Amino acid sequence: MTAELIDGKAIAKTIRGEIAAEVETLKAKTGKVPGLAAVLVGQRKDSQTYVRMKKKACAEVGITSFGHDLPEDISQAELLKVVQDLNANPDVHGILVQLPLPDHIDDEEILGAISIEKDVDGFHPINIGRLSMKRRDPLFVPCTPKGCIELLDRSGVEIEGKQAVVLGRSNIVGLPVAMLLLHRNATLTICHSRTKNLPDVVRQADILIAAVGRAEMVRGDWVKPGAVIIDVGVNAVDDATKKKGYRLVGDVAFEEAKEVASKITPVPGGVGPMTIAMLLRNTLDGAKHAWGVE
Ligand code: GUN
Repeated sequence: MTAELIDGKAIAKTIRGEIAAEVETLKAKTGKVPGLAAVLVGQRKDSQTYVRMKKKACAEVGITSFGHDLPEDISQAELLKVVQDLNANPDVHGILVQLPLPDHIDDEEILGAISIEKDVDGFHPINIGRLSMKRRDPLFVPCTPKGCIELLDRSGVEIEGKQAVVLGRSNIVGLPVAMLLLHRNATLTICHSRTKNLPDVVRQADILIAAVGRAEMVRGDWVKPGAVIIDVGVNAVDDATKKKGYRLVGDVAFEEAKEVASKITPVPGGVGPMTIAMLLRNTLDGAKHAWGVE
């Protein structure tokens, strides 16, 4: 059997179209457009790429973006001041501080300083705390986990009652996606690199979310026949046949797993485009909340 591809690129495009239409309608109604502030500290190439992609995506759906490119050696106090000024700016409905921050910065304090009403990454402790409790709606849910659920929903995968296995326990993906699956009535297992008999645990999954950050760790024989696989991993592996000298692979050995799974996301073109689409969605929701419109 060959699995059906869950085409994140196409699904994200549909969502961006929905957002663009809604931004247009709201602009006609209110005369205003949503605004996203993207704060980038330092010169990391990957972070620069992500922020550039996020700003480009904003422009395409009619959301204004405000770039704040700050030096690597910015002080904690100066960075806090940037966040506080953005909190007070009525044209800004979402504040994104690209992670990771340099080592000398206390990222917990910075993320905690973002107004929960503008916390479009969903990393503020209050939003994460609400996500971690029953019947407490967070104002925003982190973008990559939200994108994983959206991929399942838009691919017709039922979550309720299913055995879901989350491989990985990061603050950005593993932990929040686990909470979302639980709220949707999945039976949940969280496992990680130190789990004993990891292949046996992963083999229980009707729905597998792989977010461990290790290239092609999940082999074909770890996959339950008919499972649905959402591969969050983005790992560069050397490849002399490519112009850049590397190629991107997921946490799942795609060629093996696709022969066993019923549905699977590719890397690239699976979860990645959804993260940005969900950031746009959160920014639009933030603006609607600020303007008091539904
Ligand atoms: N670094 C890796 N993923 C993310 C993300 O979703 N948001 C931010 N702000 N930084 C990240």
